[in-house]
Amino acid sequence: MQRIIILDFGSQTTQLIGRRVRELHTFCEILPYDKYPVDDPDVIGVILSGSPLSVYAADAVHPDLSAFLGRLPVLGICYGAQLLSYSLGGSVEPVGTREYGRASLNSIDGKCRLFSGIKTPSQVWMSHGDSITALPDGYRPVASTDSVRLAAFEAVDAPVWGVQFHPEVMHTTEGFRLLENFVVGICGSRCEWTPDSFVESSVQELRATLGDDKVVLGLSGGVDSSVAAVLLNRAVGANLTCIFVNHGLLRKNEFENVMEDYNGLGLNVIGVDASQEFLSALAGESDPERKRKIIGGKFVEVFNAEAAKIGGARWLAQGTIYPDRIESSNITGKVIKSHHNVGGLPKEMKLKLCEPLKWLFKDEVRAVGLSLGMPRRMVFRHPFPGPGLAVRILGDITPEKVRILQDVDDIFMRGLRDNGLYDKVWQAGAILLPVRTVGVMGDERTYERAVVLRAVTSSDAMTADWADLPSAFLRNVSNEIINKVKGVNRVCYDISSKPPATIEWE
Ligand code: XMP
Repeated sequence: MQRIIILDFGSQTTQLIGRRVRELHTFCEILPYDKYPVDDPDVIGVILSGSPLSVYAADAVHPDLSAFLGRLPVLGICYGAQLLSYSLGGSVEPVGTREYGRASLNSIDGKCRLFSGIKTPSQVWMSHGDSITALPDGYRPVASTDSVRLAAFEAVDAPVWGVQFHPEVMHTTEGFRLLENFVVGICGSRCEWTPDSFVESSVQELRATLGDDKVVLGLSGGVDSSVAAVLLNRAVGANLTCIFVNHGLLRKNEFENVMEDYNGLGLNVIGVDASQEFLSALAGESDPERKRKIIGGKFVEVFNAEAAKIGGARWLAQGTIYPDRIESSNITGKVIKSHHNVGGLPKEMKLKLCEPLKWLFKDEVRAVGLSLGMPRRMVFRHPFPGPGLAVRILGDITPEKVRILQDVDDIFMRGLRDNGLYDKVWQAGAILLPVRTVGVMGDERTYERAVVLRAVTSSDAMTADWADLPSAFLRNVSNEIINKVKGVNRVCYDISSKPPATIEWE
């Protein structure tokens, strides 16, 4: 399959470049800057990402570009452009103040293929502290802003381009077209990476790899494991057994509803209600990380016991997706976020790992789900943390607190759905605070629990904004919660963004 290689120099927007290329129905791989796959005959072009570093700094990285430079089309973005220029004999210097934000291309060379169909003025997004001040021999400028003369350049005799701005971000209004010009117009992508073609080729590959082997898969109710299950079911049918464990910390009626959906899809699912076991193991525990560990450990125990009953399984399937696996260049040594879902399952089971979605971004998983005929409510279900309500009940967990939070959450989620707001937010839920507050109901003083509603917009959970839900909606939800959920007399709305807050409270 044709592919674009994106070499990652540690920019926060590298994954976004990948997603844009995929939106052009072109497969791409994001690799650390020094891991170019020299022997891969399917590469049709290379993109060099941005970076927090300076090309002239002592800690800068200057990988060998000779494996592809001059042979395949290359597009350098920000640091990538500076690296191309600098390493070929041009110069890059610090600008007085870091240039960050919107700028306007006021001059574009109409003959440059990269800018085909893009007219001046064209808004672009800049984020750089260095500028290219002189180009190498054999290169010429093709676009500029009022303050950045060399905003884009190309080689005269080779397929090499560099842009100082970021075409992958939304604020660059013609950025998608520019990437299309590169990926399709210049690299010659046949745009064959579609949900249907993915389903077709995956089914064939899975059949060839798995043969008549038995496969087990842990379902969570979430979109990734569900799509993986439906895809595998199409490939190997009855040889797939899914296990869905109810740890007692799911949403209200979620276990029953999701089991019904799975059965409707023809999946072979074993539903295990281990709520009591989990709640007993969690009794008295308030520490968030220990709660996570207890749930993780119990899950493995319950899952193992069920999987052993199947007998003869050779494969463990998981809904791991591409962002979980991208080996980030992590150039500055700072970990921004460690992922929750990689690894985890029982080594002692000696099962081979099958990860049919390992190349897909989240939006592609959803598109594949739709292509497989899955219901929208399943495909567009909000993300939900593995430990469930355990990390939304601050402090220790009791069956009564679970009941209260499930009721509150249910009112909030139903409200979002009924008011057409569910699909407008990335994720929503309720949090039960470990405090009581004074209230007055009728003529009576009350002293009851406080809950927080949280809804965020996001594209990948790495960053998130609090969702600006209509105040009339929040008012109605708050009234309904206080009137209907016994034990709650106060409702708050969380207006913190990530960073500096996180989506979950624990
Ligand atoms: P935070 O709170 O880190 O959450 O901003 C980012 C995303 O990850 C989910 N999350 C988890 N998912 N196990 C999971 O499977 C966990 O322990 C966990 N903690 C947070 C969270 O719901 C959000 O989508």
